[in-house]
Amino acid sequence: MHETYGFEDHLDEVTSRYSGTPDPRLRTLMEALTRHLLAFADEVSLTRDEWLHGLDFLTRTGQKSDALRLEMMLLSDLLGLSALIDIIELERGGGDLHPTERTLLGPFYVPDAPERGYGDTTVVVDDPSERLRVSGTVRSTDGSPVADATVEIWQNGNDGLYTVQDLDRFPIEHLRGTYRTRPDGSYEVRCLRPVDYPVPMDGPPGEMLRATGREGMRAAHLHFLVRAEGHRPLVTELFDSASARLDTDVVFGVRPSLVRTPVTGDDGVLETTFDIVLEEV
Ligand code: BEZ
Ligand code: FE
Repeated sequence: MHETYGFEDHLDEVTSRYSGTPDPRLRTLMEALTRHLLAFADEVSLTRDEWLHGLDFLTRTGQKSDALRLEMMLLSDLLGLSALIDIIELERGGGDLHPTERTLLGPFYVPDAPERGYGDTTVVVDDPSERLRVSGTVRSTDGSPVADATVEIWQNGNDGLYTVQDLDRFPIEHLRGTYRTRPDGSYEVRCLRPVDYPVPMDGPPGEMLRATGREGMRAAHLHFLVRAEGHRPLVTELFDSASARLDTDVVFGVRPSLVRTPVTGDDGVLETTFDIVLEEV
């Protein structure tokens, strides 16, 4: 009887093409990718039109990307892949303290934020929204303070836009800063109280959100990138407990350990603490 070349035959044939891959990790990645990708198409009986639509969607997502617009990163975030990488990488340091939880970098990180002094503000262009002071100490997992760590902070304005999305109106330094910890590991930042905001909806990832009826809102947060000699860089976010989206953040980034409730300080400014623990390498 005539044997039909079917799914299992095809899967075996495609997978076997990687058997000679010199790098064993690359072989594992390619074989697993082949298995899952082909099984996905088989499970849903992917139609020719759907397949072409998918290729067009990915092509357009790439074409929409540039150095200041990371549309492929946004897609990874919305699919839950970026948050999963942080979960996979979760490691327990050797010391007494738990390292601060990681969460998404997001598509709006721009390197080389201007250096700012202890307690300085990131607000370059006046803005009527509420101010927030964030202070804390950077430590290693053994509890020792980390001096001279760089603490990069970035956020968007209360119009929901990051400065890099609105360079006609704002200088690139606005709402960004690089702080350095003092000898006792302390840092202090003044910025805006963060607000819930929509992710960019004008590209293919936005189309995907609309087509699936998902709300494209992030929970209010400040971004942190903390680096220090001998420690693993930490990418994380501080979330405001006043956010209405803590349970529904569109990129799955909220972790309870990162949520803070600002209170009014003696000088009338809202404040909160955010202590940071870095893993030694
Ligand atoms: C952000 O927090 O800036 C962000 C993260 C993921 C997708 C879009 C925006
Ligand atoms: Fe953000």
